[in-house]
Amino acid sequence: MFFVNQPRIPRKRTYLLCPPEHFTVRYAINPWMDTATAVDTELAVKQWTGLRETLQELGHTVHVLPPEAGLPDMVYAANGAFVVDGTGYGARFRHAQRAPEAAAHRAFYEGLGWRFVAPAEINEGEGDFAYLPEAYGGTILAGYGFRTEPGAHAEAQEVLGRPVVSLRLVDPRFYHLDTALAALDDRTVTYFPGAFSVASQRVLAQLFPDAVLADEVDAFAFGLNLVGDGRHVVLNSEASAMADRVAAAGYTPVPVELSELKKGGGSVKCCVAELRP
Ligand code: ARG
Repeated sequence: MFFVNQPRIPRKRTYLLCPPEHFTVRYAINPWMDTATAVDTELAVKQWTGLRETLQELGHTVHVLPPEAGLPDMVYAANGAFVVDGTGYGARFRHAQRAPEAAAHRAFYEGLGWRFVAPAEINEGEGDFAYLPEAYGGTILAGYGFRTEPGAHAEAQEVLGRPVVSLRLVDPRFYHLDTALAALDDRTVTYFPGAFSVASQRVLAQLFPDAVLADEVDAFAFGLNLVGDGRHVVLNSEASAMADRVAAAGYTPVPVELSELKKGGGSVKCCVAELRP
């Protein structure tokens, strides 16, 4: 049961993005990546600029992390850390190709003067962590199965002091939590059940009886890889069925073109890290 008539109130957010100036597909670490695919880096930058401007036009603050040559996946800024209550829990990447990105994110948070904790456990930041400030007083959802180690979920709970609920991902196409689940506002999630183990589906159904359920078509179009501010839902323009779904639930879909970045196995949410003071 969605409370469609309930006003959807946007909340101003602060985000960190990194432009795809060095974006290519020169290694393949997820099923979407094919090193034979030609990438139009100029188009990627143009589309990414559209995403940045959209977030700014919605009233949000956007910080930009300087991109580094040789780190083509740095555009997926969500993976660099997970920030809750002004504390950054750093990333430790599964694959060597992305490992150096963690230091760039660390330098950014330390430059802001925020508390930053370097991880011992492998985890890919907001790619595998989502935060719902008003679900049960503040709940972190955490994915494992492909990238992040379950040990990082316990570590995040100790670092951030919020309850962490572990969810097992089972479909290699949806290798990060943020490809299969998103926060639409401070207490509501949308997700594709088939990306999760049967037991994790039950956990989600019990915690979030009001979730907006998506299907495989939505997930395959990267429709779950969205950024919500409580009212607006920024998602890639290929995910039109997902746009209809969030509209039916009372949110305002804001489609953006981001086709080039799909070649790396990511979309809107992958490009956006949220800084929560
Ligand atoms: N090529 C990147 C990788 O496989 C894509 C990361 C997508 N990011 C995300 N938050 N899902 O690591």
